[in-house]
Amino acid sequence: MSRAKRKMDHINYALSTGQCRATWLDCVRFVHQALPGTGVADVSLEPKTGDLNLKSPVFINAMTGGGGSETLQLNAMLARAAKETGIAMAVGSQMAALKDKNERESYQVVRKENPQGIIFGNLGSEATVEQALEAVEMIEADAFQVHLNVVQELTMPEGDREFRGALERIGRIAEELDVPVIVKETGFGISQEAAEALAGTQVSAIDVSGFGGTNFASIENERRKRKLAYFEDWGIPTAAAIVECRQGFGGTVLASGGLQDAGDLIRAFRLGADATGIAGSFLKHAVSLGETGLIEEIEGLHEDLRMLMTALGARTIEDIRTSPAVISGELLSYLQQRGYE
Ligand code: FNR
Repeated sequence: MSRAKRKMDHINYALSTGQCRATWLDCVRFVHQALPGTGVADVSLEPKTGDLNLKSPVFINAMTGGGGSETLQLNAMLARAAKETGIAMAVGSQMAALKDKNERESYQVVRKENPQGIIFGNLGSEATVEQALEAVEMIEADAFQVHLNVVQELTMPEGDREFRGALERIGRIAEELDVPVIVKETGFGISQEAAEALAGTQVSAIDVSGFGGTNFASIENERRKRKLAYFEDWGIPTAAAIVECRQGFGGTVLASGGLQDAGDLIRAFRLGADATGIAGSFLKHAVSLGETGLIEEIEGLHEDLRMLMTALGARTIEDIRTSPAVISGELLSYLQQRGYE
């Protein structure tokens, strides 16, 4: 199957199978504060994200690029929405453009549409330092995502079966690049153990990309005759993955995986995320509502966060981490068994 066809399959399956709503974020319940002592004007949405320098606590996570005019149009639309709302955006894996120069335009359009914006490059952990350097240069990336996707590869009939040396390659990439490196999953979560291993490198940020949103095992299974059903319920739910990474990693922790509304985001911040990425839900809005609808959605998220933070008496994203909240259900049991509660 051609790479272009696979990209479009991913987008279409993500739209149809997509979000499974099992992030466990709804196990976090804030304790209402009747005397919050703040006003909407006191709230600052600018997060603390170290050398990533994000201006908004939400960004468009890696989805697409390569694969012809459809992905080019989609990336151009996402880039214009990111520019209009002042949020960062990641492009999808640039491997297609490293292998075929004709594919570059669909990534470079993101920089063209948003010359001053914060843009993340993206490659898998099989990438070499040279490939990472080329990917950064291609779009003048401000930061570079390395994605880990073992379960997706295993579920893909034509996927990789060899995962040795990834940590060492990531370590070299983080040493050699002069932009910050973010290591992310693709919807199965990152554990404390993996986060601790990454803490031994010069990686700036981990994006937990947990279970509960876009499910690449389901997406890849759609394309298989004999389904690997056991991977469809595999992975660390996003709420738990945030705590895992916070325990294992002292740098910036980004949360993604199934985030849809400001209620999800504020719970992710409470559990320890510094900022949040959204892929599948933005894709759905982009396809169903178009560019204006996506812009309204992002502006609505900012507005809703201001409301929620005012109700909590939190002036900054960091303040949310100490807002009184009660954790229940499966998340509580998980955190207890992992020794976190
Ligand atoms: C993705 N994702 C992804 N991630 C990555 O690092 N490189 C990539 O090329 C892609 N491609 C891609 C295509 C499509 C259509 C989707 C929906 C997603 C994964 C994405 O960045 C994110 O980690 C997961 O989708 C989980 O977040 P959501 O979708 O639940 O918000």
